[in-house]
Amino acid sequence: MLLDKFSLKGQIGIVTGGGQGLGKVFCQAFAEAGADIVIAEANTETGAATAAEIRATGRRAIAVTTDVRDPASVQAMADRAIAEFGRIDFLMNNAGITHWGEAQNVSVEAWRNVIDVNLNGLFYCCQAVGRHMIERRQGRIINIASMSGFIVNRPQPQSSYNTSKAAVIHLTKSLAVEWAPYNIRVNAICPGYMGTAMAKPFFDDPEYGGQWINMIPLKRPGEPEELAPLAVYLASEASSYMTGSAVVIDGGYTAW
Ligand SMILES: NC(=O)c1ccc[n+]([C@@H]2O[C@H](COP(=O)([O-])OP(=O)(O)OC[C@H]3O[C@@H](n4cnc5c(N)ncnc54)[C@H](O)[C@@H]3O)[C@@H](O)[C@H]2O)c1
Repeated sequence: MLLDKFSLKGQIGIVTGGGQGLGKVFCQAFAEAGADIVIAEANTETGAATAAEIRATGRRAIAVTTDVRDPASVQAMADRAIAEFGRIDFLMNNAGITHWGEAQNVSVEAWRNVIDVNLNGLFYCCQAVGRHMIERRQGRIINIASMSGFIVNRPQPQSSYNTSKAAVIHLTKSLAVEWAPYNIRVNAICPGYMGTAMAKPFFDDPEYGGQWINMIPLKRPGEPEELAPLAVYLASEASSYMTGSAVVIDGGYTAW
């Protein structure tokens, strides 16, 4: 049956940054589709809270305090996931941060931090979990990029963020090609403005809110739940012929 291909029953997935925002909604969606979840989260409290919510639905879930910027922390998280559940079937790289600042003034520290979390950290996770998937000759990786990987947002200056997300899209394609022989599929989701802690406050800000809404054909920010069906599709057999793709969900922002 067609819908059976979307099932994640018995699958084991890791979600980075799953303690809040989009990551939390992805965890809930994967669990609803039948998966057990490892939440790799820098914030110990929110990670544990999401794990408890998932366990309450009858699925298995653990939270592992992880800083994706630290390869040793990432490797320990992957080892723990395998020790706990025996294997990893899919990885969603969702953890990310943003920074606004004019390029000529942005501090080296701020620039490095955005690249470290959004790009380097994502790569460390792909590498640690990818080695395991290569051994098993199977796996799916879903990277959360952004429409900012394709366009330059206005009016806020955020070159580090835009650059990191463009790199995530190209890393997605690179890994998709390198790891296709191992039956590992790698795709990216590129959201537009979503109503999470990262973006919502700015929609209420008179300086930005109206301008942003005017640039979105659907005239509203997206709800995190509107990304979840695509995440389940990419984690499941339903997307068996898809790899190296970067799918935009942005209410039409990048269409004009
Ligand atoms: N919200 C949007 O409008 C939007 C749009 C496009 C893309 N995105 C992307 O979606 C992803 C999630 O964004 P969100 O809006 O849910 O953000 P959020 O700030 O609500 O959540 C991010 C999560 O990542 C975790 N995190 C941050 N640094 C980490 C680190 N070093 N190690 C491990 N975990 C870390 C945080 O603790 C937090 O739980 C990000 O990659 C973001 O760039 C968001």
